[in-house]
Amino acid sequence: MSTEGKPYHWWQTGVVYQIYPRSFQDSNGDGIGDLAGIILRMDYLKDTLGVDAIWLSPFYPSPMADFGYDIADYCDVDPMFGDLATFDRLVAEAHRRGLKVIVDYVPNHTSDQHAWFVESRASRQSPKRDWYIWRDPKPDGSPPNNWGGFFGGPAWTLDPATGQYYLHQFVPEQPELNWRNPDVVRAMLDVLRFWMRRGVDGFRMDVVGLLIKDAELRDNPPNPNAPAGLPPNDIFGRQLHTYSEDQDEVHDLIRQIRCTLDEFPDRVGIGELWGDLPRWVKYYGEHGDELQLPFNFRLMHLPWKAEAMQASVDALEAALPPFGWPNYVLSNHDQPRFASRYGGQAQARVAAMLLLSLRGTPTVYYGDELGLENGLIPPHKIQDPQGVNLGAHRTRDVARTPMQWDARPQAGFSSVEPWLPVTSDFEVRNVAAQLQDPSSVLTLYRRLIAVRRGSRALQVGSYRALEAGVPGVFAFVREVDGERVVAALNFNAEPVQVALPGFGAGQIVVSTSGREGEVATADLTLAPHEGLLMTL
Ligand code: NOJ
Repeated sequence: MSTEGKPYHWWQTGVVYQIYPRSFQDSNGDGIGDLAGIILRMDYLKDTLGVDAIWLSPFYPSPMADFGYDIADYCDVDPMFGDLATFDRLVAEAHRRGLKVIVDYVPNHTSDQHAWFVESRASRQSPKRDWYIWRDPKPDGSPPNNWGGFFGGPAWTLDPATGQYYLHQFVPEQPELNWRNPDVVRAMLDVLRFWMRRGVDGFRMDVVGLLIKDAELRDNPPNPNAPAGLPPNDIFGRQLHTYSEDQDEVHDLIRQIRCTLDEFPDRVGIGELWGDLPRWVKYYGEHGDELQLPFNFRLMHLPWKAEAMQASVDALEAALPPFGWPNYVLSNHDQPRFASRYGGQAQARVAAMLLLSLRGTPTVYYGDELGLENGLIPPHKIQDPQGVNLGAHRTRDVARTPMQWDARPQAGFSSVEPWLPVTSDFEVRNVAAQLQDPSSVLTLYRRLIAVRRGSRALQVGSYRALEAGVPGVFAFVREVDGERVVAALNFNAEPVQVALPGFGAGQIVVSTSGREGEVATADLTLAPHEGLLMTL
């Protein structure tokens, strides 16, 4: 594959880093992270870690029923996080360092405190009534259909004053906008323009597959494969989402969103999407006219098995349209930490190598570069509505604990007790300690990101899986213009001898276990849970 003369976009060659602002750095001593805190850590992001773009989860005014995904004003900053002037400073500080800034766009629902919903709810005659999805009760007074909410309970709440139900597939405080109303579309596209004018380089778009619902709001069918043991209130988990997700008409809206992004140069649209491959791939648009990066969460849900990971990557590569650029995500603020999910620190190191050497844009979740594991959240400290409603084992708080900067009290995150407890290992697992340790997971991330930055093959080269000849090994080659990088990842807890076809002698450029600089040959021994990147 030759790339000579082919221009690539920053969102193709770069590494994205997700910041959960509440948990990154508190600058004003209220126990909650803020925008000024992120500015304080900008050198860490750019110089220490070396990422290319940051994505900020919501920092907009919000009653925090869903920790900022319930937005009361799309065009402002919650005082808890700062103000617009601080946001402008953040963008300037990022851009000065060559870092791109991606913000969260939550188009499917607002907060029930948003002025639009307050007006909509005021009366059936309100000019904004149709901005949300209101329906009469069934004759017996029950909700208009059987849909359940992601966080438990029905997806409808009755407004007694006006006698109608409104739709919310998350908490009742998150009423859903009616994107079939052109005024809503106009207002929401203007939100994108507002932030692009302030300099943001792109958007991560929350649950975009939900924007349009079935025109008749038909009942969802039961899910024959629903897991056993769901709590009684998990109506959502017992249904297929046939009429509430990924409706064909959504693509017209995504094209309008993309046209709006294209009013400004080189902005990126990243979508949170969950459908199976055939449904998911449609979000690139038939002509590449929808999202540049529909988030690919497939590896996140797989067991720690080389064969499963490879099958997923191969299937993705095969499904992509010629203009479709891949991307990979191993964790985010909604999932347990992968150091816990994949089995431990050794697995987390191999996972980091996988994420940062596959073909496609990697998104790194804050704290994963330290190998952060799930936080232990005492039941009375659970805050996430998913955990509160569906049980402690479902709480997403475990992946939202404060960033661990150093061994000071509260891990250097805050001067007071933070909104969620700092993970108990912070005295040893923190940025300052890991920077001093050549074998730390942070050192590994820094090396992987630096090597990726210096390698066209890793940034834009082709991907081809290699037959390693032993179970439990995922090996592949990345190649461009004569430059080749081979990755060999041992998912086994035992050492393995691999024989890589067509591989002469090479040099190990990154190793999860300190073998950089060694010469590697076609017959290669990999230690338990060892990953190697080799140049040929
Ligand atoms: C997806 C977000 O990632 C999640 O945190 C949020 O709760 C829901 N969408 C609702 O906005």
